[in-house]
Amino acid sequence: MKGIVLAGGAGSRLYPITQVYSKQLAMIYDKPLIYFPLSLLMLGGIKEALIISNTETIPLYQKLFGNGNHLGMNIEYKVQAAPNGIAESFVLGDEFIGNESVALVLGDNIFYGKLDFLYNAVKNHNENGGIIFAYQVTDPERYGIVEFDNSGNAISIEEKPKNPKSDYAVPGLYIYDNSVVEISKNLKPSARGELEITDVNKVYLEQKNLRVEKIGRGVAWLDTGTPKSLLQAANFFGVIEERQGLKVACIEEIAFAKNFINRVEFENLIDAMPKSDYKDYLVRVLKHS
Ligand code: TTP
Repeated sequence: MKGIVLAGGAGSRLYPITQVYSKQLAMIYDKPLIYFPLSLLMLGGIKEALIISNTETIPLYQKLFGNGNHLGMNIEYKVQAAPNGIAESFVLGDEFIGNESVALVLGDNIFYGKLDFLYNAVKNHNENGGIIFAYQVTDPERYGIVEFDNSGNAISIEEKPKNPKSDYAVPGLYIYDNSVVEISKNLKPSARGELEITDVNKVYLEQKNLRVEKIGRGVAWLDTGTPKSLLQAANFFGVIEERQGLKVACIEEIAFAKNFINRVEFENLIDAMPKSDYKDYLVRVLKHS
């Protein structure tokens, strides 16, 4: 399974900083926001990732991650000329995806906690159909909403419904079989001019091939789209990391834990870092491993 992080977008709710700065590079306490979605793919066992963003920001991501080899990964990059919609990821990612299935995570989505939902989805996917996730919210009018049966089969999907059929929102993580590329190529832009991920899901729904994996209350799904939610997320991880003495979304630690890199490679990676709390943390991780 390949992975895509969609990390472009207008970021209009974070104006004015997003005139010159990408939202997904914003600091979440001690690391850039994009570390969170990337680490989610890594925790799902995905070693090949494509980062999609605008022309100005791609060079910055390249500076951050290079070709990913130091993490035992292969990271590629693709420009999205304009925010033409989430489903455009699969059109732009056509070559990268090849014949494989694919997981897409939005660059501003953070999940923290028990990740069984992710492990189950990756394990059960069978390279067939689509899997979306369901997270209970109190304000379903604001989200894409999914209704599903007891066996986890999707029944309906609606974007920001006035009369929601459930209170389960669909977060920015999606897993599809290879047909998602063709499905996305055949989509027509919506009234707001975007290739909508909801329309992709509707095709799988019509084929009775859309599964829903519920995300339990042990998981925090954090929003980072507004100044307030960004600050809250930074404070949240500041508190958690201080209290536990463990870092969240530390991509080097995850690469080592998942055996993407061996001990020597991990050591070399740490040696190359400038003196910092981040480095000291990884030295401790190495010592205790
Ligand atoms: P959104 O939250 O829909 O949009 P945005 O990030 O541009 O912010 P705003 O609503 O304030 O203008 O996007 C969700 C994520 O997907 C975010 O990480 C940006 C990314 N995205 C793209 O990279 N390209 C796109 O075409 C779209 C629609 C989103």
